[in-house]
Amino acid sequence: MNVLGINSVYHESAAALLVDGKLVVAVEEERFNRIKHGKQAEFDNPHQLPERAIRHCLNAAGLTARDIGRVAYSFDAKMRRKQYRAEWWDPRLEETFRLRLGQVRGAIEDLLGRSLGPKLHLVPHHMAHAASAYFPSPFDRAAILTIDGIGETAGSTLAKAVGTRIQSVETFEYPHSIGFVWEVFSGYLGFSHYDASKVMGLAAYGDPEIFREQLRSIVRADEVNYGVNREFLGFHGSGFARMEAMFGPPRESNAEILPRHADMAAALQEATDAAVTALVRRVKRRVPFDNLCLAGGVALNCVTNDVVRRSGEFANVFIPSAPHDAGTAIGAAFAVHCATQKRPPERGKSTPYLGPAFKRSDILAAVKSAGFAARRSKSPARDAANLIADGKIVAWFQGRMEFGPRALGNRSLLADPRRPDMRDILNQKVKHREDFRPFAPSVLAEHAEEWFEVGTQTASHEFMLFACAVRDDRRDLIPAVVHKDGSARVQIVSRTSNPRFHELISCFFAKTGVPIVVNTSFNDSEPIVCAPTDAIVTFRKSGIDALFMDDVFLTAQA
Ligand SMILES: [Fe+2]
Repeated sequence: MNVLGINSVYHESAAALLVDGKLVVAVEEERFNRIKHGKQAEFDNPHQLPERAIRHCLNAAGLTARDIGRVAYSFDAKMRRKQYRAEWWDPRLEETFRLRLGQVRGAIEDLLGRSLGPKLHLVPHHMAHAASAYFPSPFDRAAILTIDGIGETAGSTLAKAVGTRIQSVETFEYPHSIGFVWEVFSGYLGFSHYDASKVMGLAAYGDPEIFREQLRSIVRADEVNYGVNREFLGFHGSGFARMEAMFGPPRESNAEILPRHADMAAALQEATDAAVTALVRRVKRRVPFDNLCLAGGVALNCVTNDVVRRSGEFANVFIPSAPHDAGTAIGAAFAVHCATQKRPPERGKSTPYLGPAFKRSDILAAVKSAGFAARRSKSPARDAANLIADGKIVAWFQGRMEFGPRALGNRSLLADPRRPDMRDILNQKVKHREDFRPFAPSVLAEHAEEWFEVGTQTASHEFMLFACAVRDDRRDLIPAVVHKDGSARVQIVSRTSNPRFHELISCFFAKTGVPIVVNTSFNDSEPIVCAPTDAIVTFRKSGIDALFMDDVFLTAQA
């Protein structure tokens, strides 16, 4: 039985495929259509499918549309209709949304060229998030907490999983959405509403005390209550009236970042840590297991994630590589497999390397048609490590592309963490990011604890989902990856999870005594590169010094 999972209701459009319960491929549409997040979340486009991602899933598995037994879409239109309340937002927008949701079936049937009848399943959004975290986790039972902007109407769900069964135990409906609070703050602070990670980076520069009281009036979180004050939300850019009354005028996107902006970000981060911790305690009371799975876009907040991990409420915490909406394509497929098949799906496989891979012939053809002369390296790991140690920026492209927003060594830009100016060099030559944003380190698993206060290593540490303190006596040695507050968003690299990337860092370690490289995604503002042609385009237009694609390499002089 093959189950195709699809997410396209808001953003991070994606597709995933389960073959006999085994997750064989998952990919985000943005990597093909080169539009960040695949598309903007609008009321009039939930029927815009991730067409190329779906086609890729079929091709990669050698299947045709006829071979798809079930299709799982990660949003339940009926549930939305039942729970929507007219006072929340403009009913005309809701009418448009309904109309477009009604076209989802037709769009899928057109794309697959067949009618689906009862084989199309609409999976509740938070159930899809929950399943996306639970089935790849190493657990056979777990408490689950999902927190995002909005699903059908929920902003957060607490659930219990035992075996293949996931049951919702409590739901917080709109407006109780931390994800939306972050969208509002991101917009108010002059970023796009997708830029929660910038706000998170900015928070390290601020003092949370300045606006602590104000945040308390926006997000309530204690032993009994949890909730968000709706007056601050508006819905998708409907103005910042309450925000302005409380915090003053919003920041224009090109205006200087002032201390009060950082203070707001710091207060928001603190309030989020407290709110999520309160929800974690709440789910622990209802589901007193040792294991916790986290998902939803808010689970990309690596600072909060580490607060949850260190709280010790749960002995074990798992977060998938794509906790945001892309992951619901995987989760919906797992949920439908469990609902329709006797045999349980494959569990505990959490690899992020689920996307397209390219043959050497593809790579050579792309290099040739771009007018470059291909060179071969006998030891790409060693050659790349030597260049990095010389202060060069190396693009490292290999194997299957990552699923999720972080580059984890297969579509990465790598650099030397020892150089204090490396952050500026990366920004000048390629990334063009705001200079307050930190770059992340990738560290050999065997040495992680010597450099960072990791605590118990988990599978999710391989996905760059926890911020850890850099050890005091090591901070001066790796200035390029230490954030303002002394933390770093670490990726732990094990030999088993990514042998070739592990080999590269090992070569760098042998040469320099530092088992760490700077790892940032291989892109300049656009989505992370997918194919060799994308890699060459970004290489050519930026100041990257060398590009390795498997054992083929190009240097800027070539
Ligand atoms: Fe979501």
